[in-house]
This record gives sequence, C-alpha cells and structure tokens, in this order.
Amino acid sequence: PSADHYQLMEWATRYFQNQLKTAPQAIDYLKGRGLTGEIVKQFAIGYAPGGWDGLRQTLVRSAATEAQLIELGMLIGRDGGGSYDRFRDRIMFPIRDRRGRVIGFGGRVLGDGTPKYLNSPETPIFHKGKELFGLYQVKERHRTPARILIVEGYMDVVALAQFGVDYAVASLGTSTTADHMHLLFRTTSEVVCCYDGDNAGREAAWRALENALPGLQDGKDLRFVFLPQEHDPDSFIREYGRGAFEQKLDDAQSYADFLFERLTRDLNLSGEAGQNELANKAIALIRRVPEGFNRESLLTKLSVQLRWGENEKRLREIFHR
Ligand code: GTP
Ligand code: MN
Ligand code: MN
Ligand code: MN
Ligand code: MN
Repeated sequence: PSADHYQLMEWATRYFQNQLKTAPQAIDYLKGRGLTGEIVKQFAIGYAPGGWDGLRQTLVRSAATEAQLIELGMLIGRDGGGSYDRFRDRIMFPIRDRRGRVIGFGGRVLGDGTPKYLNSPETPIFHKGKELFGLYQVKERHRTPARILIVEGYMDVVALAQFGVDYAVASLGTSTTADHMHLLFRTTSEVVCCYDGDNAGREAAWRALENALPGLQDGKDLRFVFLPQEHDPDSFIREYGRGAFEQKLDDAQSYADFLFERLTRDLNLSGEAGQNELANKAIALIRRVPEGFNRESLLTKLSVQLRWGENEKRLREIFHR
C-alpha cells in the first residue's frame, strides 16, 4: 500500500533534518542567526541540499509516490516526464496543522539569493491563508494561552520561542486574514499583532485590524506593538532581550486607539468637513464589529473624537440609519 500524504511529508521532514547534520554551511548559518540546537530540534528545522534530486532519490519508490510528491509540491514534474526537487539549498521550516501533521514547508536561502523564502504551493493538504506557523507548538505548550502574538516571519516565531516567548505564530507570507483572526480568537481572548517596524509592517497592522473587526465578540481583545523602524521581533529580542520585548507587549496599543489615531491622522477635526469624514470612515468600520461592548465603546470613543460627547445620541442615530 502507498504511504499517505501526511506520511510522505513526515518522511520529507526527517530527510531534511538528517541532511542538516551533514551540512556545515547550513549549521553555520543557523548558528549565525543565533539559534540553538535545542530550538532547531523543537521546530524540526532542516536543510534541503543543493542537488536536484536528493529528496527524489530518497523518497521516490514508485511512479505513484513520485506523483504524490508532485501533488504535495515537494517535487516539480518535468514536461517530458520525471521530476526534480522543489527545495534546493535552503533552510527548511516544516509547517504543521493543528493536529501536528506536517502539511507544507517554508524554505529560506542561506544568503542573499531570491526568492528569500520559498513556500510550498497550494496542495490538497496545504492552504496558505488558513494556516499559521507555530500554532500547533503554542497549543502544545499552553492549553488555553492568555494571549497569542502574531508576527510576520518564521524566524520571528522561532527566535521568540527560544527567548521564552512561546506563544507566537506567523502567517505564511500573506497578510493576516479574517480566517486567521477567527482561528486565533477560537483559541485565545487576546491577540497581539507585532509586525516588522518598517512601513510594510505598519500597513500589515492596519489590514489586520480591518480583517479582525468582525471577530471582536465581547471578551475578545486586539492590541498592536510597533517596533522601531529597523527591527522585527527576532532582531528586537536579540538586541534588547526578553524583558524589553515583554515591556513592549505590556505597552501595546489598543485596537481602538490605533483605529482612531490612523483615521484622524490627516484630518482637521475643528471643522465640520473633517468631522464628517471621520464619522463616515469610523462608522463604516464600527459597523463590522459585532453588537456588544466592543462596538458600544468604539461609538463612545468616536463621539469623544468628534467632540460630540455631550450629544452622543446624534451619533447613534447616524450609526443606526
Ligand atoms: P529573515 O530575513 O530570515 O529574518 O526573515 P524575515 O521573516 O524577517 O523576512 P521578512 O520580514 O522579509 O518577511 C516576512 C515573511 O514574509 C517571511 O517570513 C516569509 O514568510 C515571507 N516572505 C519574505 N520574503 C519572501 C519571498 O521572497 N517569497 C515569499 N513567498 N514569502 C516571503
Ligand atoms: Mn510559556
Ligand atoms: Mn519585512
Ligand atoms: Mn527577520
Ligand atoms: Mn522581518
């Protein structure tokens, strides 16, 4: 009988782990990034060697397994028949589903090559927009985590875990989707977004907020950490340590403050035009929040921003129009 998809992905993981043992340049790369052997083992990080058919030679036993490995994105089929390894000369991060089964990989080049990261394509078992790297490990360590951090990169998740911040997950090179938020709010009541400090990271934070609004049921909270421009969570915690990072978490901005800061950024609220623009933009967003405490408190904050505090009723009339 042929091995199933999950079995093949498990064998691929083990193959990459074994290859790492005999690849000094890959070991040096990981050491250079500050990773310990222990954390490398914990995340089952491996190495895909540089040839064209190392994995193929090791795992293909029949035409059927070759076809399966092509379907799983591990091999790429050649036009005239045959196939070759998709991942070559890359550090391999296995991506697990919530049950711990390996469903895909992210592969990083050792140096400055492109693409920097190569991910598994969509396959019958791997759907990028619905999976989060590290979620299985978080749940393994915390039955009901008080909060979950969402970061941009594999390296961020692994570095944070090495420093004891073992409750971070990453989306897989996509922005944080509504599906991701929904999944996280099923597991925890507080999500903290901590993206890279660059402009791309700030834009990602805003998109995450927009996507998260429908998930903000009563009791759910969302906050944002903004790192210095030149840092991501990995570089920040290595430079400043766990204490400084956790201080950042404690000082994280509430989603409401982030929302109003962003909406009022370029508006002049002393005039009616600016006030109306804020009201329109904010109301469109607040309508996406489920009825309840979170929505009410956003409406109250909006009336304060509009300096309609003494006339909150007017705002609620507009809202329910
Ligand atoms: P390091 O440079 O190894 O520290 O990685 P990083 O996670 O800091 O990378 P970066 O901030 O540039 O990107 C964040 C995440 O976006 C990565 O972890 C990947 O998931 C994804 N990503 C980055 N570059 C690429 C790319 O070239 N292709 C794809 N598909 N995804 C990428
Ligand atoms: Mn812990
Ligand atoms: Mn980045
Ligand atoms: Mn990084
Ligand atoms: Mn980064």
